[in-house]
Amino acid sequence: MQLLVLGGTRFVGRAVIADALRRRHQVTAVSRGRSGAPPEEVEWIAGDRSDPRLIRRLAGRRWDAVIDTWDGPAEAVVLAASGLATATGWYGYVSSRSVYTWPLPRGADETAPVVEAAPDGGYPSDKRAAELAILDEFPDRSLLARAGLVLGPYEDTGRLTWWLHRAAVGGSIVAPAPPERIWQCIDARDLAGFLLAAAEATTSGIFNVVCPTSAGVTTRRLLDACLAVTGSGGDLVWIGAEVLRRAGVSEWDDLPGWMAPDGEGAGMHDCDVSAAVAAGLDCRAIEQTVADTWEWLREIPPSRRPPRRGGIPRRGLSAEQEQAIWWLVGRRRVSKYET
Ligand SMILES: NC(=O)c1ccc[n+]([C@@H]2O[C@H](COP(=O)([O-])OP(=O)(O)OC[C@H]3O[C@@H](n4cnc5c(N)ncnc54)[C@H](OP(=O)(O)O)[C@@H]3O)[C@@H](O)[C@H]2O)c1
Repeated sequence: MQLLVLGGTRFVGRAVIADALRRRHQVTAVSRGRSGAPPEEVEWIAGDRSDPRLIRRLAGRRWDAVIDTWDGPAEAVVLAASGLATATGWYGYVSSRSVYTWPLPRGADETAPVVEAAPDGGYPSDKRAAELAILDEFPDRSLLARAGLVLGPYEDTGRLTWWLHRAAVGGSIVAPAPPERIWQCIDARDLAGFLLAAAEATTSGIFNVVCPTSAGVTTRRLLDACLAVTGSGGDLVWIGAEVLRRAGVSEWDDLPGWMAPDGEGAGMHDCDVSAAVAAGLDCRAIEQTVADTWEWLREIPPSRRPPRRGGIPRRGLSAEQEQAIWWLVGRRRVSKYET
């Protein structure tokens, strides 16, 4: 395929380019260069995609597929989708499960209610407006991949990378109980593979893209894998949601990716992905994601971990929060976590 990647040099887009090259597609990528350049096998068009002249230049060529990873204000996607409507056969977009109204119903599929695409409505609204712009131009030749928690090498959102960093520090580690709580996440490389296979088959539709609950990814498996690869000898201390709440620990961000099984956000790890599985979604084992992420992360000095892109909030428990939890559960200071 002649593949145009809008983005491609940070996390998910980077995985898309790597997999596209592995599949021997001809790849052109557009980015400004602030996050580095794509691999040299890629034709790189350096520029700002919000510039209509750049989109006109791209529209002067013919593409089999476009993959767009944009996560900012929707105007950039509106511009690209309308500008490229006659220039590409297919448009794939990395959307988000954030488009669903809160709280997410448990077990919901892609027909669950979504937010309004209101101006200044923030991230969920921008993602929805981007989806609508693509559906408008490509009603039956587009794919909206509503990703959930994305993990893997080059992650710059501070989630699995925080857990790995914390596991590497060792000592007693706060682990949110119950250990068998299911997580739904997706390795960026599996998300990329799903998008590229769909582009090759010109699959159209809207898909939740996280691993199925039947994959059996649990808090225990995730954290055991972090301890195993870092080899720090740390131990997990399972703390119930009630104590965590009393200590002011927020779900999702303070214990990155965690959502209490009985809370409002429980649906974040309980959605129906049967459509994506039927369309070919294949998810590697969480242990593989953890091992490969650590392999990459260990090259980054501890003082610069976890790497985080600008504008992303700091995630993970602070040492003070940990101490508050130990105090609440009546343990003496057991952690050597100091940062
Ligand atoms: N992380 C999660 O858990 C999660 C969950 C659900 C959905 N998602 C979605 O997953 C996607 C993540 O993608 P990613 O950011 O990792 O993709 P990426 O394609 O690897 O990185 C973003 C790209 O956009 C480029 N870019 C930024 N501003 C630009 C501009 N004005 N003009 C041209 N290029 C520009 C960046 O390069 P330069 O800066 O060099 O220009 C970079 O190449 C997002 O859509 C996000 O909403 C993530």
